[in-house]
Amino acid sequence: MCGITGYIGDKKAAEVLIDGLKRLEYRGYDSCGVAIINGKNELYLRRVSGRVDALDELVAKDPVKGGFVGIGHTRWATHGVPSEDNAHPHTDCNNQVVIVHNGIIENYLEIKEKLSKTGHKFKSETDTETIVHLVEEKLKTLHVSAANARADMLEPVFFEAVRRAIADLKGSFALSVIWAKCPNMILAARQHSPLAIGLGEGGNFIASDVSAFLKYTKKAVFLNDGELAAVKAPSVSYFSFQGKKLDHSPVTIQWDSTMAEKGGYKHFMLKEIHEQPGSVENTLRGRLLPLKGDVLEKEINLPTAVIREIKNVQIIACGTAYHAGLVGRYVFENFALPASVDFASEFSDRAKIINKDTLIIAVSQSGETADTLHAVKEAKASGARVIAITNTVGSTLTREADYVLYTHCGPEIGVASTKAFLGQMTAMYVLALHFAVIRGNIFDTDARIYVDELLKIPRLIEATLAGEDNILKIAGDFAGSEHFLFISRYINFPIALEGALKIKEIAYVHAEGYAAGEMKHGPIALIDKGMPVLAIATSSKMLQLVAGNIEEAKARGAEVIAIVDEDSREHIKASKYIVVPKTLEILSPLVNVIPLQLFAYFIALAKKCDIDKPRNLAKSVTVR
Ligand code: G6P
Repeated sequence: MCGITGYIGDKKAAEVLIDGLKRLEYRGYDSCGVAIINGKNELYLRRVSGRVDALDELVAKDPVKGGFVGIGHTRWATHGVPSEDNAHPHTDCNNQVVIVHNGIIENYLEIKEKLSKTGHKFKSETDTETIVHLVEEKLKTLHVSAANARADMLEPVFFEAVRRAIADLKGSFALSVIWAKCPNMILAARQHSPLAIGLGEGGNFIASDVSAFLKYTKKAVFLNDGELAAVKAPSVSYFSFQGKKLDHSPVTIQWDSTMAEKGGYKHFMLKEIHEQPGSVENTLRGRLLPLKGDVLEKEINLPTAVIREIKNVQIIACGTAYHAGLVGRYVFENFALPASVDFASEFSDRAKIINKDTLIIAVSQSGETADTLHAVKEAKASGARVIAITNTVGSTLTREADYVLYTHCGPEIGVASTKAFLGQMTAMYVLALHFAVIRGNIFDTDARIYVDELLKIPRLIEATLAGEDNILKIAGDFAGSEHFLFISRYINFPIALEGALKIKEIAYVHAEGYAAGEMKHGPIALIDKGMPVLAIATSSKMLQLVAGNIEEAKARGAEVIAIVDEDSREHIKASKYIVVPKTLEILSPLVNVIPLQLFAYFIALAKKCDIDKPRNLAKSVTVR
């Protein structure tokens, strides 16, 4: 949670920092700020409670003079309410040392109490402010007389003060610190929260994720836990928390910064919904053929012996990724490999019964979700091997996991996940097929049928997207509804859950996703006249049962909106139809979720909600 930016170089820091913060706003957006050292080595600090646009205006009205080094932050509150006082950057008692931080300092109250006794005055309720006072205190104990010292002579002292302060911290942090007396260096550190360094021409960058600096450079170094970087304009040096010098070779990021922009769509979410044929293509590319799966084996290095040995699969994930996991469970079980799924946050107790017979599949778009990372650690401690399905190269999950399968969906900016979900489900099909072939659970001819049909899915999604106007019209008819029910069975039950989640997230409307057969055991009591029930009723071995459940809902006054295909339509009597192309039932979630994403989008649009940045949510939740 929270986005950090930092810049030192020949460009105006204010512009680079604010531009970066706009790209990081999906990580949190309740308040933000920048701190820049101006031409006279004075601190320029501007903060607002609210969005980065407001900060941009404030800085434009009263611009910094000079200023080629600075740090910025966009916040998602954990300690202390969203307010200007609690917004980052935070300063020490003398407004000289300044910090931005992402994460949680678990022992901050203890440190704060000690520092208060030695006279430090705190201006906010945050855990972060404790760190900056701690650095100030360490500077004192290093007996620096900064008044007349040359800036370059102060650099080792500043480094040592930050290093010692970090040694006292418990918890998670990604942080960047500057000191007005030492304007040629930013210090950055990482412990359990992501931080990347961008290596540019004429200057270097710091950010929570690379999208903040991709416009300037594609060369990046991802700090590991326990590492510090001394970032200067011409070069960057890396150290362990113990002060040992380290070497890092940069990686080249393939994403284009325009890939992270709206491309003519009103919202990132709509753009990302329309990018989904490509999400499936990109996740499939080069991985399905030859059938024996050796392409995939080379890519993820997962030995065939492991695939043959494992007795079951345990999927862990949060939010939308959890729904991809639920789909994955049906897919693995379809190919005779027992699978279970848990919310990562509920996994702790189950981790105890896991051992090396279980392969953990951790699914996370960001690869930074704290609950998922924690669950992975617990599973590993129990002896299980872990494969990550993620969209984010260099993310923490990729380093925690034994094997990684990237979804390659490109940056997802809308907080409500769409294209990453398609990538995650596609990855499940790829893996499950690969496993089935290697374990001999499927004949090659049958595997080939799945492969051929999977390769057609991008075109079927395009055809579904072409029906957007019908969905817009239906959504318009129900935009005033206060409750929605989403129902289906078997592998489309998770899609009902996802449809309900989307509408809750972005339109702030109460919605329930339910297994259609379970309705009669409770939720049917919720139905009264005019209640919209979205039923996924595409061709299925369960179709007659779903048709029956639709009748039960209608008998209680529900207005049924049915997602059907050309064959199932005649079996379903509904108020409205959304017709999608037919595919194999097992693959149908990849198509059926599209109208539900669009439906939620159009309801939210009609309600004038802030679709890309829904209230109270963050794209990447790095607290547990
Ligand atoms: C947050 C987002 C969701 C996302 C979930 C898991 O809650 O708002 O859209 O599904 O985190 O994120 P991950 O990055 O682990 O897939």
